[in-house]
Amino acid sequence: MAGRRRNPGETCLNYRHAFHAGNFADLVKHACLLSMLGRLTGAQDGPLGVIDTHAGAGLYDITGDEALKSGEAAAGVARLMADAAAPQVFASLKAAVEKANPDGALRFYPGSPRLIADALRPADSLVACETRPDDLARLRQNLVGPNRQVLGDDGYATALKGAGSGRTLVHIDPPFERADEYDRIAATVAGVVRRNPKAAIMIWLPLKDLETFDAFLRTLETMQLPRALVVETRLRPLHDPMRMNGCALVILNDPPGLEADAGVASGWIAGALGEAGGQGRVWRL
Ligand SMILES: C[S@@+](CC[C@H](N)C(=O)[O-])C[C@H]1O[C@@H](n2cnc3c(N)ncnc32)[C@H](O)[C@@H]1O
Repeated sequence: MAGRRRNPGETCLNYRHAFHAGNFADLVKHACLLSMLGRLTGAQDGPLGVIDTHAGAGLYDITGDEALKSGEAAAGVARLMADAAAPQVFASLKAAVEKANPDGALRFYPGSPRLIADALRPADSLVACETRPDDLARLRQNLVGPNRQVLGDDGYATALKGAGSGRTLVHIDPPFERADEYDRIAATVAGVVRRNPKAAIMIWLPLKDLETFDAFLRTLETMQLPRALVVETRLRPLHDPMRMNGCALVILNDPPGLEADAGVASGWIAGALGEAGGQGRVWRL
């Protein structure tokens, strides 16, 4: 499960997003990502380069063994798709899910690289990184087309190399399997902002206990960054730190309008998919 903490130095390469695809956390993340992309790719905007540092497989069969075993897609995207009254902020995500399922039955859920690629204009570009060989092979099949590059390289190093000086969005969505994941995110954010202060950066984080999240925010606060937008979605109070009780997005250089969309998306997920005491909250660091 995402968000597990391990001993320093210990690595584990067991994370497979197929268990979690289409869960509540994907829905908040992907609705906000699509809102952000829509706002960064207006008719008057210059070309946008996107780096998806942790891309996953790009498309997931949510009727497969992994998704059925976890039940997370059933509790997430299946409920969103069944709710005709869900807020407008989910319209682009719903349309992308429908596009991935032309037969009408809900079987496939698109991951971040597919959503990004479909939202980009011809002059924009995407670099998607995935280090797990089986998911990398799937990603190569699921992400074909011009201006889309799939790399089996470390996403953090690729972001540091590729953030350049042009209009850039970096999406950082790690599995949180390694004890140094938070440090690597902070170092990558620092490096990207140093090279390209206007780069938009979206970071996904698990919410289990508040201490880990607070420690990461405190690290960011010492780094003299642009004021970040924080989107906290809690499914339940954080009483049990062994569970993923929610998720958060930390977004730098968010485009105008994203804050309102994020508030609606987070609030709806917490209210419709969460338990008593769940809440969505958007604030500035
Ligand atoms: C949470 S999943 C990504 C989900 C995807 N972003 C989405 O929203 O559909 C994290 C992925 O990162 C991959 N990964 C782990 N460490 C990596 C690294 N250093 N660079 C690139 N990918 C990595 C994992 O194999 C896993 O597939």
